[in-house]
Amino acid sequence: MHICKSINSLNKVLDSLRPYKNAGFVPTMGALHEGHLKLVEHARKENDIVICSIFVNPTQFNNPKDLEKYPRMPEKDALLLEKENCDIAFIPSSKEIYPEKDRTNYDFGEIENVMEGKFRPGHFKGVGMVVKRLFEIVKPDNAYFGLKDYQQYLVIKKLVNQFNLNVNVIGCPTVREKDGLAMSSRNLRLSEEQRKAAPIIFESLKYIKNHFSSKSIPGWKEWFKSQINRFPALDVEYIEIADAETLMPVKNSNESKNIVVCTAVFAGEIRLIDNILLKC
Ligand code: PAJ
Repeated sequence: MHICKSINSLNKVLDSLRPYKNAGFVPTMGALHEGHLKLVEHARKENDIVICSIFVNPTQFNNPKDLEKYPRMPEKDALLLEKENCDIAFIPSSKEIYPEKDRTNYDFGEIENVMEGKFRPGHFKGVGMVVKRLFEIVKPDNAYFGLKDYQQYLVIKKLVNQFNLNVNVIGCPTVREKDGLAMSSRNLRLSEEQRKAAPIIFESLKYIKNHFSSKSIPGWKEWFKSQINRFPALDVEYIEIADAETLMPVKNSNESKNIVVCTAVFAGEIRLIDNILLKC
């Protein structure tokens, strides 16, 4: 596996691998786990060459403490990527990604004002900025994103449309721990008590999916909060039940063909997000 820390060296390696039919790309912020590696595996199956980037993107963190505490372990990550037969690990510096201020106007419409967008102002502009830049540098044919970050996946699809980028965006299922907790690099920071409590998040989402017709939407939102709040280690930031394409909240289940339930729950200062699709 090639490790490239600059755009220059990436271009050289890409040239040395030509001709290739298609290139698959997995952008990440590192501290890789099974969820990331599944994306790489998926890319491996569908592409001649696979590139994975590791870059903790400062522009998408609205909380400086979260940015500072974000786990960084590039050497371990590179070993994991090598095991997955990734061709290139692209690990750029901030200077490579942001040589100058990006003055592009990113407009994802209403979708960036709800849920993650509402509680993390500016977050999706930062995600859009870095993903557009990475797409321009790597020039992939296919790019792989986890449905764990469902709203991010929709935002990336909007980004590709807004700027007419020639990339297929492919969403991959959420990978979970045995007890149902969605894998996340932030899980490394959970205390024992928080880690023990955290599976209730997905358990409750699953319960809503399986019994959806038995309660009203406001009823389910209240039920979810009461379930989570039984655990002193957890605190619900939001729970939304929304149209799975527009992410606009729905008041009853007949309003939409596809519905998604999305939540963010605090475990101390660590934010855990998860979602479940109800109808597809
Ligand atoms: P990061 O949180 O490192 O995630 C990288 C990719 O892995 C994203 O597409 C995310 O949805 C996916 N992923 C994370 N946990 C997953 C899980 N448990 N199951 C399936 N997929 C999972 O998301 C980002 O980085 C950044 O915002 C990024 C897109 C790299 C832009 O900086």
